[in-house]
Amino acid sequence: MDGGEELKSVGEREKFPVGIIGGTGGMGRWFARFFSEEGYPVLVSGRKEGPDLPEMTEKCPVIIVSVPIGVTCEVIRKVGPLMKADSLLMDLTSLKEEPVRAMLEASVSEVLGLHPLFGPGEPSMAGQNIVLCPARGDQWLSWVRELLKKNGACLVEATPQRHDQIMAFVQAGNHLHTILMGLILQEAGLEPAILECFSTPVLRTKMGLIRKVISQPALYAEIITRNPEIVRMASLFEGKIAELVEATEKRSAEELTKLMEKIPAAL
Ligand SMILES: NC(=O)c1ccc[n+]([C@@H]2O[C@H](COP(=O)([O-])OP(=O)(O)OC[C@H]3O[C@@H](n4cnc5c(N)ncnc54)[C@H](OP(=O)(O)O)[C@@H]3O)[C@@H](O)[C@H]2O)c1
Repeated sequence: MDGGEELKSVGEREKFPVGIIGGTGGMGRWFARFFSEEGYPVLVSGRKEGPDLPEMTEKCPVIIVSVPIGVTCEVIRKVGPLMKADSLLMDLTSLKEEPVRAMLEASVSEVLGLHPLFGPGEPSMAGQNIVLCPARGDQWLSWVRELLKKNGACLVEATPQRHDQIMAFVQAGNHLHTILMGLILQEAGLEPAILECFSTPVLRTKMGLIRKVISQPALYAEIITRNPEIVRMASLFEGKIAELVEATEKRSAEELTKLMEKIPAAL
């Protein structure tokens, strides 16, 4: 970058290339389209296509990692040492503690953890929540904040640890519950044709959630099992199911009502 460019804030510079590792997959492709529509040239790579890491980091001052959770830190450790100090390394991973730590350890660049709380099926980020975990530097942070805000995203900032704690409920607990419903459905042995005729609107909503989760089993399994708080969440799950089972085995509507009354009404 020449001296003139350095004096400008990153948002005022000529549109620079954005590199997305995993840009051939669901979220990577979504963000490739987003940056492209914002006028930024985008370079994407997958396992078998696109530029290699040295070429991508040479050309792109912004690198985004959007690969499956299980290989994220490995990819970060490869790309991190190639990053320049005045560039940005960012990830889209659904968990933040491990990837953000890996980005800080592997690079000297600015580092930002980002978690879009929506999937690649959404048409735009307008009205969608996005979590930012600022980790190193603030030049690029301002650019990202402005760009996302301009497109209507609802931004919230958190430490990676706090993010993962909250995701233990928002994702791990929530998806575990969906999987539980799917497993119960399978045991119940009700055929799809029967369910179609006998389902209520609430059940149809639940079935949609089950279909979504089982369509990407590896993603959801990693989101659940890699959450640092998962053991606490699993034991909470077990304890609450046991309380429900006890009340229903006793056929005690009173006990079941009491359990429901513990839930804050202002949800
Ligand atoms: N999907 C969602 O709803 C969602 C929402 C928010 C955040 N996220 C996060 O976004 C990230 C990507 O998820 P996704 O659902 O987009 O996954 P995906 O559709 O499976 O895409 C994964 C991408 O990573 C590439 N890839 C796989 N293994 C790789 C490796 N070893 N080295 C380099 N590239 C590799 C794939 O390339 P090829 O297949 O072309 O080789 C593909 O481009 C994850 O961290 C996830 O937690 C996902």
